[in-house]
Amino acid sequence: MISTTILEQIQQEETPLYYYDLPLLRETITTAKAQADRWGYHIHYAVKANFNPRILQEISACGIGADCVSGLEIEQAVAHGFQASEIVFAGVGKTDREIQTALKHGILAFNVESLEELKVIGNLAREMQLEARVALRINPNIDAQTHHYITTGLDENKFGILMHELEACLSFIHTAASGLTLVGLHFHVGSQITDWTVFKRLCLKVNEWNAWFIARGYIVPILNVGGGVGINYTQPDTEPIVDFASYFAIFNQFLTPEKGQQVHFELGRSLVANCGSLLSRVLYIKNGVNKNFAILDAGMTELLRPALYQAYHKIDSLTATEVTLEKTVQYEVVGPICESSDCFGKNIQLPPLKRGDLLAIRSAGAYGEVMASRYNLRQPLNYYFKE
Ligand code: LLP
Repeated sequence: MISTTILEQIQQEETPLYYYDLPLLRETITTAKAQADRWGYHIHYAVKANFNPRILQEISACGIGADCVSGLEIEQAVAHGFQASEIVFAGVGKTDREIQTALKHGILAFNVESLEELKVIGNLAREMQLEARVALRINPNIDAQTHHYITTGLDENKFGILMHELEACLSFIHTAASGLTLVGLHFHVGSQITDWTVFKRLCLKVNEWNAWFIARGYIVPILNVGGGVGINYTQPDTEPIVDFASYFAIFNQFLTPEKGQQVHFELGRSLVANCGSLLSRVLYIKNGVNKNFAILDAGMTELLRPALYQAYHKIDSLTATEVTLEKTVQYEVVGPICESSDCFGKNIQLPPLKRGDLLAIRSAGAYGEVMASRYNLRQPLNYYFKE
């Protein structure tokens, strides 16, 4: 995946380093957009997956919107080419200052999570003499069949407006001069969803909720079904781009919007994960009692997913590749941080490694760099962008 010319350049660079394949990123975004356009669907890129300025510039240039979860994400998205009128703002804990930032920019919609939040947004909008467009986030109680830390659509999760508050939300929005306009319904059930029947179930729930609102006289212009498309972490080279055609086809088949209702998506991981790899050098090889450790110069501080979710990321050796399978060695690939959870993978078969060898930890473009920390006072990250 990395050409020898680029590898030679990277050899001069300090690691840990985030490597971004911008042509693959562009191909991914244009594929997703073309497939969405077939059905007239709108995509908002979930900025939380990766807010690196270069990544944002590439994505905004493809003409899709943004999904932000903080005031600073809104500022960052606008600064790097996204149209404020195509930004949605989600999050269970929006501060007054963040709401004011969003109002000032005139974003497309606040995805609202409670009656109390609705009132705060309304008050701030009135103070600023602006109108706030709101979408009500509904928790559809669907099991996304993914890691419990990234499941959001169950009753037990903190997300979404409580059912018994919905009527009150509607009447509040429609009190005179509430400062609010209802523009949509919002759903999101989880992330890294690989069982696509989950999306079919989501469509059916959205239809039910849409009917509930229509029965009360509201045909909202936007049905926002969130994100969550899972990627292939085990074989990033055979499936670098998600099958967006099949994904959107599910919504076309099972979602039944009324005439004039637009369908919106908030895709994060599926747009950026496979364009990024964390590159790291082997610092030491330690042959332990029962296993061999490969100790890297990158750790959970640069890529938290394995430690936090026991997530699998494929590990490739970039420098020691010409070896037959029989000659591979089994390693526990670990980082330098003083935590036993600082492990990228156990029982990993790799060519025999030595100090200085370069490894790529794959599919790190989403929730990689953005979840990095300076714990242990680590070096700031280094980057390489394949143009
Ligand atoms: N919309 C909402 C309301 C969300 O909460 C999320 C992700 C997305 C859209 C984008 O979902 P995606 O298409 O990326 O699955 N740090 C975790 C993932 C957390 C996802 C949080 N919400 C991880 O590394 O797996």
